[in-house]
Amino acid sequence: MQYKRILLKLSGEALMGERQYGIDPKRLSEYAKEIKEVVEKGIEVAIVIGGGNIFRGVAGASNGMDRVQGDHMGMLATCINGLALQSALEDENVHTRLQTALEIKEVAEPYIKRKAIRHLEKGRVVIFGAGTGNPYFTTDTAAVLRAIEISADAILKGTRVDGVYNEDPEKNKNATKFDTISFKDVINKGLKVMDMTAFTLSEENKLPIIIFDMNKTGNLMKLVSGEKIGTIVDV
Ligand code: GTP
Repeated sequence: MQYKRILLKLSGEALMGERQYGIDPKRLSEYAKEIKEVVEKGIEVAIVIGGGNIFRGVAGASNGMDRVQGDHMGMLATCINGLALQSALEDENVHTRLQTALEIKEVAEPYIKRKAIRHLEKGRVVIFGAGTGNPYFTTDTAAVLRAIEISADAILKGTRVDGVYNEDPEKNKNATKFDTISFKDVINKGLKVMDMTAFTLSEENKLPIIIFDMNKTGNLMKLVSGEKIGTIVDV
């Protein structure tokens, strides 16, 4: 196996499947099966999930809502997704723990780094909810932060596209994909992998970011086994 401990970042929108909003149980169960496969290989898996399928703070702010208020709603949305993913994983008999950056202790454990690591060592999937617990930070930043804290080998960002391209592949059919690219080249070429806060945090801590298509069955397993899937951003 290429990686021992991974942090998987999933977008909230990915959970919508074919829907316009909310959670598609079929998609959720597909993800749970993919995750189960890698857990069974002994890979330690931590997950950060977005909340955009339920609420986006930025969208709220652009409609006149106070940004901090909107971001708090977004953080709660990630907890809803975390609970849904936890259920889906438990349906597959995968042991999980949900830890949240904002305390809602009747619902989930508060985030405690040492506890999170113990859970991972025991083979439990740890889902981190409520982002970083702070407004103005994205769940990508939360993913990088948690990945560094738990000393993950890499952050695996599941997206709709299968990697980083020189141009937007959804707009230009001739766009070419990078198999590997350095943090510096991503910046020099003006490419977008994550928001700058998340990206810089990853670069400074030499945490590789892998962008891949999570909706293609088997991709997650191939990736952790060392197959060249998606794009690796590294030093
Ligand atoms: P080990 O001590 O390694 O066995 O971990 P554990 O998580 O099984 O132990 P613990 O006794 O801490 O937790 C037992 C159960 O209670 C688990 O399902 C936890 O997720 C849950 N739990 C622990 N702390 C909290 C909390 O603060 N809030 C909520 N809602 N659940 C919690």
